[in-house]
Amino acid sequence: MDDMIGERKADHIEVCLKEDVQSKKATTGFEDVHLLHRAIPEIEREKVDLSTTVFGYKFSAPLFVGAMTGGTAKATKINAAIAEAVEELSLGMGVGSQRIAIDNPKVEHSFSVVREKAPTAFILANIGGPQLVGKYGVKEAKKAVEMVKANALAVHLNALQEAVQPEGDTNYSGLLRKIGEVAQALDVPVIVKETGAGICAEDATMLAAEGVAAIDVAGVGGTSWAAVEYYRAKARQDGFSKRLGETFWDWGIPTAASLVEAVQSVDVPVIASGGIRTGIDVTKALALGASLASATYPFLEPATKGSEDVKKALQLMVGEVRNAMFLVGADSIQKLQKAPVVLTGKTAEWLEARGFKPEVYARRKA
Ligand SMILES: Cc1cc2nc3c(=O)[nH]c(=O)nc-3n(C[C@H](O)[C@H](O)[C@H](O)COP(=O)(O)O)c2cc1C
Repeated sequence: MDDMIGERKADHIEVCLKEDVQSKKATTGFEDVHLLHRAIPEIEREKVDLSTTVFGYKFSAPLFVGAMTGGTAKATKINAAIAEAVEELSLGMGVGSQRIAIDNPKVEHSFSVVREKAPTAFILANIGGPQLVGKYGVKEAKKAVEMVKANALAVHLNALQEAVQPEGDTNYSGLLRKIGEVAQALDVPVIVKETGAGICAEDATMLAAEGVAAIDVAGVGGTSWAAVEYYRAKARQDGFSKRLGETFWDWGIPTAASLVEAVQSVDVPVIASGGIRTGIDVTKALALGASLASATYPFLEPATKGSEDVKKALQLMVGEVRNAMFLVGADSIQKLQKAPVVLTGKTAEWLEARGFKPEVYARRKA
């Protein structure tokens, strides 16, 4: 079983590195989100303060590297490279699903290496929703946190991925109550994250009522797990799963729409992810009310090369955030979260169809 999970995890990394696993027709919707350019910003670019404190941790910029991997030798290298970079930059990172190490302590080091390399950075532990429906509970959640001395725990939701793979865990019944139990029992914040299909207002509201500390929407428009499973199915000549992967390739709620749905529905911090590719995306997400943004795929290839490459990729994105904040005249994250936003196109239509009124964005919770 452990070998099977290890193999699957290694497959995911290889497929993401070699194939085009990004959404095709679906986009994040950030192209419909317009920040108001200020010809007279009246601030100094180098004095823009990008720091923000969330979950008691002071991030040097509102960005972290999303959950990716663990469990194999290659994963150890990837996790170590990301950890070194985020430590140096005072940012954060998520580890991949820790199921493999909870079931087999021999591979724990592929996860715990992040705390060795990043003694002070923000570290997010990770377990899967489907495992909580199954045999996992508070004990395993605590073990995941302890393994990486995490600042918070992420519970991931991946119904789409499970639904397009033959070995998928497609029982999600009773998950909400289990998430609530874990959120109540842990002494670190519990964040619920999607993995590329988004979270709607209804689900965000139910999760907040269960006491989760934050919601990471991870909408469609970036890495597609249906695409990853398409390539895995193709390699083993499984025609049915290949067809499922292809049909559901672009399934989900676009990130920008999902973000507004969540921000407008709950009082807990909302994290924007899914297709965040530039500092402009990060800046738009914060202007829409996100507390932090996160990206995963952009850091995979750099992480296979080493921490310097991850650091460069992060610094580029942070530099772009600084530029964008300067151009909208926001010299702090608080001001950015109140900056005017114009929504057009399919994102505006989506939100209107779902009953969200444009004038509400002006009153968004910052
Ligand atoms: C190679 C790879 C492995 C991933 N593994 C996990 C995982 O174990 N747990 C998890 O919560 N998310 C996992 N994700 C999902 C990401 O955290 C993120 O939600 C998703 O990729 C969308 O963000 P992106 O478009 O910036 O890649 C993984 C993503 C990639 C690219």
